[in-house]
Amino acid sequence: MEIAQALELIQTAGNEHPGPIVWLTGAGISAESGIPTFRGAQGYWRVGSRNYHPQELATFAAYTQMPNEVWSWYLYRRSVCRAAAANPAHHALAALESEAPDRFLLVTQNVDGLHLRAGNTLARTYQVHGNIDYMRKVSGSAPVPLPEALGETWARERSLTEAEFELLRHEGEPTRPHVLWFDETYDEINFRFDSTLRAADEAALLIVVGSTGQTNLPVQLARRVLARDRPMIVIDPEVDENAFAQMNEAVCGAHRTLRGGAGTFVPALADAVASLSPR
Ligand code: APR
Repeated sequence: MEIAQALELIQTAGNEHPGPIVWLTGAGISAESGIPTFRGAQGYWRVGSRNYHPQELATFAAYTQMPNEVWSWYLYRRSVCRAAAANPAHHALAALESEAPDRFLLVTQNVDGLHLRAGNTLARTYQVHGNIDYMRKVSGSAPVPLPEALGETWARERSLTEAEFELLRHEGEPTRPHVLWFDETYDEINFRFDSTLRAADEAALLIVVGSTGQTNLPVQLARRVLARDRPMIVIDPEVDENAFAQMNEAVCGAHRTLRGGAGTFVPALADAVASLSPR
């Protein structure tokens, strides 16, 4: 799809329908900040003599068996996120929220916190897979920031000392990273499940940035928007592996994908959204 077509879709859908323009972001929006995607070769993690695949480690089952190792992996990944900075695509979305808050809603699968660091607010940013800067009690609690005493840099494959592990308690109880694991289900209190589905039922348009569409809630969001006959625009350098592009093909006969990086297209689309009339 050409950028001109995307801008026209924004104008038409945005002016005909009063709902928010919903942005759904995935790992691709942070790629230009230097955060490697989860599924690439760099995602593997060594424990003893064994290499673990991220999808094995990002589970409650793995945490139960080896909490120290799972925490070390998250602390390493967090230090990569902390060293990264928001890029022009994140900044464009933060500027858009402050210019046109009534038409703005952001659903992100990223746990890196870069949207919030760029200036988006929690009120309009649903972190549907959590945030790596936070932890919560295993028995259940509101998320709290990781203790500062742990520090922000963490070497690959380093285990926690007992003293560090003790720091990861909250109100005397063990904690876990505030993320959604593969053997867990979405809920409203931690991951804004119902709010995301409500957004799907109100959206004038959905714009998906840098996500392959392999997780449940984001796919449900897109399906519901398309079922209401509202358009979806995809930004991704790849089309063939992208489930959202394929959904568009199935529903409207075109993948409606801007093939390129988030930094190229998000600012232009955000400008078009900012020029829509307010609700
Ligand atoms: N701009 C936009 N998109 C990009 C860029 C870029 N500069 N670089 C890469 N991409 C695209 C890739 O082509 C790919 O389609 O971003 C997409 C990233 O896909 P995934 O790595 O599968 O990320 P995501 O869809 O966010 O993963 C979903 O699964 O890994 C778990 O819980 C984790 O939240 C994550 C979820």
